[in-house]
Amino acid sequence: MIELENLTKQFGNRTAVDQLTLTIARGETFGLLGPNGAGKTTTIRMLTMLTKPTSGHIRIEGLLLPKNEKKVKALIGVVPQFFNLDNELTAKENLELHGRLHHMSVADRNERIEALLDYVDLADRSYDQVTTFSGGMKRRLMIARALLHRPQVLFLDEPTVGLDPQVRRRLWDLVRRMNEEGLTVLLTTHYIEEAEHLCSRVAILDKGRLIALDSPKALCRRLGRFVVEWPEGEETKARFFAAREEAASFAGQLAVAATIRHSNLEDVFVELTGRRVAGA
Ligand SMILES: Nc1ncnc2c1ncn2[C@@H]1O[C@H](COP(=O)(O)OP(=O)(O)OP(=O)(O)O)[C@@H](O)[C@H]1O
Ligand SMILES: [Mg+2]
Repeated sequence: MIELENLTKQFGNRTAVDQLTLTIARGETFGLLGPNGAGKTTTIRMLTMLTKPTSGHIRIEGLLLPKNEKKVKALIGVVPQFFNLDNELTAKENLELHGRLHHMSVADRNERIEALLDYVDLADRSYDQVTTFSGGMKRRLMIARALLHRPQVLFLDEPTVGLDPQVRRRLWDLVRRMNEEGLTVLLTTHYIEEAEHLCSRVAILDKGRLIALDSPKALCRRLGRFVVEWPEGEETKARFFAAREEAASFAGQLAVAATIRHSNLEDVFVELTGRRVAGA
């Protein structure tokens, strides 16, 4: 379980994360969504002890931070937004380094490295230098590294950014499989589809503040499950309805041709933040 209570981070007079309070249950795949600069990475960095909160509290599996830093470090795995593998080393050597940092025995380390390289489909590239890897392969290696010491909670900051749709889907399968095996996953994403596919619940952040928190389905339901869209000048107007009949009757009264479709998390996002999601 991950508990955030009034978590706040200020950089000078800019508030990156503002009084964030939420609880993520064990076994959830939880998504942090928000436009650029919303405070997603800063939140993950505080939760993974890479930066100190200005105020507020964090508990991971009941352990208060930063007091229990060592214990919590053993419980969590982190895949940061930007690549931080050692390019000069091979895949296996990168994992070995991580295993050493976590004081794993040689036997355990070797066994785990082999199993994980297999798990992320990189067994045949174990002895290749990371420089020779594609973006998707690097991302998978970073996931293998984050899982090496058997964490209970995995933090993924934009795990599929820059990957082609096929590789992205394979990574989703991997995340889903890890979650089914008992891992709690907290991820940030710009891809609404990713959040809809993977997340039991999402938090939408805007300017560091929590502006929505629920399952993707419930958020769509609250907005109205059906949306009517019609052109008006240069703009596309939209209106939400709980039932298809209401939507159809509204569309029927319009002077222009309208479309009716199911609402999605993108609509929720746009309604709440007034912005589209970059990259989606
Ligand atoms: N080290 C830092 N020093 C000063 N300001 C920072 C620092 N890190 C982040 N910020 C500011 O904090 C705010 C939140 O940034 P953060 O990186 O958490 O956003 P994000 O939601 O991860 O955005 P993105 O979608 O672009 O990754 C931004 O206004 C950013 O400029
Ligand atoms: Mg970020």
